[in-house]
Amino acid sequence: MEQTIGFIGMGNMAQAIVRGFVRSGKINSRQLFAYAPHLDKLRRNAEEIGFTPCPSAGELVLASDVCIMCCKPYQIEGVLQEISPLLPGRVLLSVAAGWDYAKYSPLLPAATRFQFIMPNTPAMTGDGVLLFEATHSLEEKEREEIMDLFGSLGLVRELPSQLMGIGGTITGCGPAFVDIIIEAFADAAVKYGLARPLAYELVSQMVLGSARLQAVTGKHPGQLKDEVCSPGGTTILGVEALEKAGLRAACMGAVEAVMTGKR
Ligand SMILES: NC(=O)c1ccc[n+]([C@@H]2O[C@H](COP(=O)([O-])OP(=O)(O)OC[C@H]3O[C@@H](n4cnc5c(N)ncnc54)[C@H](OP(=O)(O)O)[C@@H]3O)[C@@H](O)[C@H]2O)c1
Repeated sequence: MEQTIGFIGMGNMAQAIVRGFVRSGKINSRQLFAYAPHLDKLRRNAEEIGFTPCPSAGELVLASDVCIMCCKPYQIEGVLQEISPLLPGRVLLSVAAGWDYAKYSPLLPAATRFQFIMPNTPAMTGDGVLLFEATHSLEEKEREEIMDLFGSLGLVRELPSQLMGIGGTITGCGPAFVDIIIEAFADAAVKYGLARPLAYELVSQMVLGSARLQAVTGKHPGQLKDEVCSPGGTTILGVEALEKAGLRAACMGAVEAVMTGKR
């Protein structure tokens, strides 16, 4: 892709995307621009990651063929007030949770081409999930190019607008949930004598391997679990302990908490 790409906000998610783009080799750092209000921090990130910092959101938009809104959802309306007059003829992508096509539409100038994408932080290593809202106003060819670019960050899937919320909850919040599980298993390993760095190494590789085995074979996860549980063996004792502790209900409850926003 030849175009310039500008990030509005350079926090955790934007950094994961930028690092993923640079790592993939599909984009070189001369094509990358970013704006964030704390300019010292922005300049430090620019030196470390490799992009051009811009002193204002307006200058960022002028430097970019494709802008990616990466600030917090509650900051978007303020940012749009500043950049809206510059958007006609440009492509605006947004990764902010809950800000889909229907929510942006009344706030954008008519000739803005828009796409809502839900990424996740494993995009940084090329292991992300990138959900594209089916409703958009990009031209087909540029959408294909953008999907191809984001494909360098992981698995790309298109979802209807009404499923972006649950899709984004599973893939966007899911890494935090899985990180807790990794930490918990590593704690157990440390309790039984493994050094902590080795414990994280083993547990992370185990999670990665289990996920890849399921994804590659397409086997039902219950079948893969059964294949590890010998009759009268020890793994089934651990499975019983997880069931008694309510692991399945806890996972479903975590998703419900996000979806309902109940505190
Ligand atoms: N984190 C995830 O896993 C994830 C997954 C999917 C989607 N998202 C979405 O990604 C977006 C960013 O999340 P995050 O986790 O990266 O948040 P974050 O780490 O807090 O980063 C927010 C960024 O926005 C910048 N910012 C603040 N006010 C701004 C303004 N007025 N104009 C432009 N930039 C401004 C901040 O700059 P300063 O540091 O200079 O204040 C910072 O660089 C959110 O909308 C979220 O819904 C995140």
